[in-house]
Amino acid sequence: MTDNPLRLKRIHHVEFWVGNAKQAAFYYRQAFGFSQLGYAGLETGIRHDTSWALRQNETTFIFSSPLKPESPMNDFIARHGDGVRDIAFEVEDADEAYAAALERGAEGAIEPYDLKDEHGTVRRAAIHTYGDTIHSLLSFKNYDGPFLPGFEMRPIPGDSVGIIRVDHMVGNVELGRMNYWADWYSRVLGFERFITFDDKDISTEYSALMSIVMSDNDYAIKFPINEPAPGRKKSQIDEYLEYNGGPGVQHVAMLTDDIIATVTELRRRGVEFLDVPDTYYDDLPERVGEIDEARDQIRQLGVLVDRDSEGYLLQLFTKPVEDRPTVFFEFIQRKGSRGFGKGNFKALFEAIEREQMVRGNL
Ligand code: FE2
Repeated sequence: MTDNPLRLKRIHHVEFWVGNAKQAAFYYRQAFGFSQLGYAGLETGIRHDTSWALRQNETTFIFSSPLKPESPMNDFIARHGDGVRDIAFEVEDADEAYAAALERGAEGAIEPYDLKDEHGTVRRAAIHTYGDTIHSLLSFKNYDGPFLPGFEMRPIPGDSVGIIRVDHMVGNVELGRMNYWADWYSRVLGFERFITFDDKDISTEYSALMSIVMSDNDYAIKFPINEPAPGRKKSQIDEYLEYNGGPGVQHVAMLTDDIIATVTELRRRGVEFLDVPDTYYDDLPERVGEIDEARDQIRQLGVLVDRDSEGYLLQLFTKPVEDRPTVFFEFIQRKGSRGFGKGNFKALFEAIEREQMVRGNL
């Protein structure tokens, strides 16, 4: 697959639907170092819901909440809890992209329409992907505003932790549905199969999962799709599906170019990470060879390291960021490697299983 049938340009933003967007925005500003960009709500003429837009370098998140009981957003939140609703793409032409997506078998979510303000018009349409997640298609041919219509700019600079952009976003789907959704990304968006991990790559004593990483041609947009594999006990994917009430985004991985500084600061601000046992570091030198970072610092911060033929990567995973064991974040620094930390899967999943055990879900 070599084309870009929807003429995607980039991930424009990720929108979370949450119970209390005002407080969520405060958390992501204070803990994750995002700057506040803008606000949409009653004061800006938006009557049914409210949104806070945050940005850190090239990463833009929107947190939205319904304002009234009859809002359909409530159904999403009641079912899934706080979670990712929309992975929004900027496209060349939203009408053409929507038509092409439908022609390629996508299910339409929102027909193309105009979002307008004094700066001009943004065209928006959206298609359904797994679960209740959608992909908005946004085009900006007639718009010179700072963000999106409806938003009033209310900039509050944040104290950045060095998050640059979204590296990848992982979807969890039901057993037997991984191939369907991998094929969907191939057929509808023209993505290619970048890597496949089977249950032999990703298994512990108790459970397993399988994963296919779908990517655009430039490896700029990467969407791994996970499904549970049969194991002796309940897979972390099954736990997610149970508490999320079906498929959805499992984690958002964010790129940094200094993971030591990023994780030091995130830990100082109280962000909770998965703990790997100290023994993980015992064979690290043999496993990954020379690295630029100080080993004692890596160990102290609990950062994971993996090497492949192209280079190495450093990564670390937060605990779920809401009460339900659903969405979490990954921080990743790439030093040549385009992989996903296969060598860390076992240690990582055992760490997740220890948490599952504490939750009574293993
Ligand atoms: Fe990841």
